[in-house]
This record gives sequence, structure tokens and C-alpha cells, in this order.
Amino acid sequence: MSYVTEKNLTDVVLKRWEDIPDPRLREIMQSLIKHLHAFVRDIEPTGEEWFKAIDFITRTGKMSDNKRQEVILFSDVTGVSMLVDAINHRVPTGATPSTVEGPFHVADAPHIEHGGSMAVGAPGIPTFVTGTVRGLDGKPIAGAILDLWQTDGEGLYESQRGSEEPWMRGIYHSQADGSYAVRTVAPIAYTIPMDGTVGALMDKTEISHMRPAHIHFAVSAPGHKGVVTHLFRKGDQYIETDVVYGVKEPLIVEFTKKSGGKTPTGEVLNEPFYEVHYDFVLQKEAAAKAAA
Ligand code: BEZ
Ligand code: FE
Repeated sequence: MSYVTEKNLTDVVLKRWEDIPDPRLREIMQSLIKHLHAFVRDIEPTGEEWFKAIDFITRTGKMSDNKRQEVILFSDVTGVSMLVDAINHRVPTGATPSTVEGPFHVADAPHIEHGGSMAVGAPGIPTFVTGTVRGLDGKPIAGAILDLWQTDGEGLYESQRGSEEPWMRGIYHSQADGSYAVRTVAPIAYTIPMDGTVGALMDKTEISHMRPAHIHFAVSAPGHKGVVTHLFRKGDQYIETDVVYGVKEPLIVEFTKKSGGKTPTGEVLNEPFYEVHYDFVLQKEAAAKAAA
């Protein structure tokens, strides 16, 4: 038995934690111990700093439940959520890339007809999002499900509005030719919640706490690998500094401003509106499994 010294402690601990029957758990714990010890050796915390860290983790955990998830927010602002997402959603060139789901998705959104509005009564500039859902082979996919959620034109999600009724979300289906059509209002950039431990940490930095304007999409279709992603508004002032690192180049789209007139859904508006076009491309489930 070797007693511990500062020098041998990591090796002693690693040896003890070899004793795990499940090989994956063993691999994870070995790596975790290695990296945690390296981190502590790197920063050499004082006792006071270490207790501050414990207090931060404790308060972050206490702020997390099924309504508010400060732990996930910490993972988001440190880029870990996007890294996990990237590792688990490697897509071939041409397929729509994924990005973080975020905390505001609510299951069982109302089903809305082709071209119908998911923003009835919501503040904001009318916006028409149209396009197709296709396979990598270019063939249209009929009956794909497009589950959308976003902020209203004042930057608020349903849970932030405290709305009893569904707010700024809806489920659409692609048509026989693969097309989809959504009426909504333009989302705006918004801040991540800043009233918790993560906000207090961000306040000690000069890092932007804003997310650029975006619409969330979860697109799925039988026989295909679904994608959870966003469309980001081109030209948004925060597009290059998204606090959760969610922006990928192929997901940036033009919001083309029209002064009024005929909309993509055939209505005529006497007010300005935006047109957005995006074609979602899904890979076949079998091909995605084979590549994984
Ligand atoms: C969102 O886009 O809804 C979001 C994602 C990560 C953190 C906060 C918000
Ligand atoms: Fe969002």
C-alpha cells in the first residue's frame, strides 16, 4: 500500500477507481478523475476558492427543477451543450445541421394547418416561413412533422409570458410535394435568464448574454433521422456572439422585408412583413445508423 503524497495522489485514486465492473462507467470515471485532478493542479485553488466553487455548484443545483434548469444553462454558456450535440449529430454534407434544443420547448403543441398562424394575437412583424422537407437525394418528404417554437416580437417565450394557452408554438406537416408554410411573427434577440448563478457569473465577464433572433424547429419524418435545430436571422447583431454557441453557418437565413401586398400564403397584407425560405434536408435513418 502506498500512502498518498501530492505527487502520487492522482495515480492512487485512479488505481482505486479501476474497480468498476461496467467498462463504460470505468472509462468515464477514469477520465473524469484525470481531468479534475489536472484542473485542480493547474489552478491550485485556495481553500476559500474551493468553498466558493462548492457553493456555486450547490446553488446552481438548487435552482434546477423541471421548470428552471440552471445546470443546463451552465453547460450551454460553457459550450458543453453544443459539443455534446455536435458529437451526437454528425451529419453528412447537405443535411440540415442540429443545434441546441434549449429550455423552452413544450411538448404537444397545437396542430396548425398548412399556412396557418402560430402567432395569433402576438406582438411582432408578420413573418412567413416556407420551404420544403427533402431527403439527401433531393426527393420531397410528405407528412414530415415540423414542431416550431420561438419568442414573440417582444422576445418572450410562452413560459415567460405566463400564458395558460399555447403561445408562439405549433406543429405543421409537410404536404405531398414536401412543402411547408408557417405564418408567425419575427422573433427578436433575447437574453438568457440572468437572475441566477449563471447570470451572476456572466456579470463578472464581458461576454454577451444575448442569443440572436431565431426560430426553433424539431423536424422528423418516418424512416429519417429527425433534427432539432434553429433558423437564425441574418444580420442580427448577436449572430457572431451567441452566448450558447448555437449558430452554424447553414442555419442563417435572410428575413426579406416586404412593404405589404401578397404573402406566400396568398393573403394580402397592408402592412410590412417578412418572407423566410428554408429547405430542410434529412438523412435516412438506416444511413445515419450505419455511419454512427
Ligand atoms: C433557447 O434558444 O431557447 C435557449 C438555448 C439555450 C439557453 C437558453 C435559451
Ligand atoms: Fe430560443
